Amino acid sequence: MEIKKISSSATYPVRHEVLRKGKPIETCQFKGDDDENTVHFGLYQKEQLIGIISIFKEPSILFSEKNQLQIRGMAVLEEFQGKGFGAELVKAAENYCINLNVDLIWFNAREKAVPFYKKLGYTSIGDSFLIPDVGIHFAMYKKIHKNIIQ
Ligand SMILES: CC(C)(COP(=O)(O)OP(=O)(O)OC[C@H]1O[C@@H](n2cnc3c(N)ncnc32)[C@H](O)[C@@H]1OP(=O)(O)O)[C@@H](O)C(=O)NCCC(=O)NCCS
Repeated sequence: MEIKKISSSATYPVRHEVLRKGKPIETCQFKGDDDENTVHFGLYQKEQLIGIISIFKEPSILFSEKNQLQIRGMAVLEEFQGKGFGAELVKAAENYCINLNVDLIWFNAREKAVPFYKKLGYTSIGDSFLIPDVGIHFAMYKKIHKNIIQ
């Protein structure tokens, strides 16, 4: 297994399959994908891209921390889910954030994925809300303390 930085367009096949199934490929392009502060990581097994995570420099009004990053586009191909790859991707994102002295990571989690993130130490905040065409979400976050997250 290898996790490395990839281009935004390299994420589209996995975003499409897992997050935007049956929708036009254009829906896989997110605003800010190619901003200079945005990064995308891909998890490869035997040279196949099986999981992705993207990190955007985007603060949320829910938090007062100065240096916030947002996770988006977190996905593992269905046949590889439940094998620990998603957790590895979140850890890679957290390590990236620690190196940037980020104070807080936040994201809008699909209702179904909330238990996954809770296992990784994330907390939900506020009421659920509907993202049209995608489903019910909860805002979640984790405060980052340098050198504490492994
Ligand atoms: C959510 C997702 C990224 C998790 O990745 P994954 O590789 O399947 O998760 P992992 O195998 O790393 O799971 C880590 C832990 O969380 C648990 N977990 C994962 N998904 C879970 C779920 N839906 N409900 C409860 N627990 C879950 C696993 O059992 C595992 O627990 P363990 O450490 O005790 O064994 C992946 O299932 C996925 O892509 N789902 C569809 C798209 C999606 O919902 N993306 C998130 C958008 S916010």
